[in-house]
Amino acid sequence: MPLMAALKLRRSTREYSDHQLSLQTLSDMLWAACGVNRRGGERTAPYWRHIMVIDVYAATADGVQVYEPTTHSMMPHLHEDIRAQTGLQDFVATAPLNLIYVAHGERMLDLPAAERRLYASVDAGFIGQNVYLFCAARGLATVFRGAVDTVNLAQTLKLPEEQFVTFAQTVGYPQP
Ligand SMILES: Cc1cc2nc3c(=O)[nH]c(=O)nc-3n(C[C@H](O)[C@H](O)[C@H](O)COP(=O)(O)O)c2cc1C
Repeated sequence: MPLMAALKLRRSTREYSDHQLSLQTLSDMLWAACGVNRRGGERTAPYWRHIMVIDVYAATADGVQVYEPTTHSMMPHLHEDIRAQTGLQDFVATAPLNLIYVAHGERMLDLPAAERRLYASVDAGFIGQNVYLFCAARGLATVFRGAVDTVNLAQTLKLPEEQFVTFAQTVGYPQP
């Protein structure tokens, strides 16, 4: 789909069908989100000071995986279904996929703590917009979300202390 057509369709959706995403669709979406698009290892999304601080976690009914852009692969992280903990809205518990944008604070140590969150949030926002456009182009539904209990979710994800949750993003198919 041409970019202008995808932009025309981009929107937030909060009602999802039960239809699951195929592995190929998930793979393509994660590459669009922040996959490697150049020989130097740079990504589809821009990022602060050439230091990649965001990890993308994918929470489904089967558990949680982390996207590893350099190998374009998913690493198992948790085996539980934690979708209900990824946000404060009801649909997150049943939508097929919730992405969680986790920041490595330890990679931003020369910034004051408040600025770490700012720059990490901008990086997450660019990734989120890539996901929005991918979803628009593929007939998927999505919403970027700040209504997240980030402290509780960090504990659920068993993140090390220096890492923190920025935003989450639900992905699925729209209700017919
Ligand atoms: C930083 C940010 C946080 C957001 N948080 C939420 C949220 O927690 N829950 C939600 O349903 N939508 C959330 N949204 C989506 C916005 O509500 C939505 O983009 C806005 O209402 C415009 O609608 P549209 O995306 O359909 O154009 C968020 C968007 C942004 C950019």
